[in-house]
Amino acid sequence: MPTYGCKYRRTMNSTSALPPSVHVLDAPAQVEHEVAQRFAVLAQAAINAKGRFNVALAGGSTPKGAYARLAREFRDRVDWSRIHFYWGDERCVAAEDPQSNFAMAKRELLDPLAIGGEQVHAMDGAAAPESAAVRYSEQLRELPLSASEYPVFDLILLGLGKDGHTASLFPGDMNALENPERRWVLPGLSPEGTRERLTLSFGTINAASHVIFMAVGAEKASPLRSALTGKTLDIPASLVRPNNRPAEWYVDRAAYAELAG
Ligand code: 6PG
Repeated sequence: MPTYGCKYRRTMNSTSALPPSVHVLDAPAQVEHEVAQRFAVLAQAAINAKGRFNVALAGGSTPKGAYARLAREFRDRVDWSRIHFYWGDERCVAAEDPQSNFAMAKRELLDPLAIGGEQVHAMDGAAAPESAAVRYSEQLRELPLSASEYPVFDLILLGLGKDGHTASLFPGDMNALENPERRWVLPGLSPEGTRERLTLSFGTINAASHVIFMAVGAEKASPLRSALTGKTLDIPASLVRPNNRPAEWYVDRAAYAELAG
């Protein structure tokens, strides 16, 4: 039974060699703060070590609070000029569209920190998905390459969908999930909302130095239990098993409810 608050807990009943580490926080605001704190620590460590931090941001609504906190509470604690911002996925809409993951991060994080120009590597949601995926893969060539020949991000932030999707890797989208050509970036297909998507592949996600998941709310309790205790294409998030170290999960008590036992 985990101790609530900012406590570290290993979920030992996952099926991978590297069980994910789960931080169970009392409320969403604490999840936001802990993720912002962890982002800042990882960013400054990478900047100190190699002068640059390459991060792929998550979309959806959960990360909004963490991004706003980074811009507000960590403004002076990170050398933001050394960070390059990418995206883990994008909806195929114009950059100004309210549905755009780029627009959300720009509003909550980049604009408040006056970050732009060559530090920002947005996916092109306005273009045809296939050509946009190819072009984004080309942009990732500036990143280091893993032994399995995928680009290595220092950090990839991910959310968890009610159906167990993550990034834009959705249940049933077998081309994206199986990725037979070992592509770095793929067109994805969502069953609802903005259907056409762009997404990093599992190969790229699992090559990252660090992966952080965020999940809050009772509606994520079932997919969270499935993601942490299984390993199946039906729950794409369960297939995020980073090669370098366990994924880090930051969740609130409501999302953890089915695992609290
Ligand atoms: C997206 C995200 C997606 C998101 C989950 C959770 O484009 O929608 O990348 O993977 O993280 O759907 O979304 P919420 O945070 O809104 O619950």
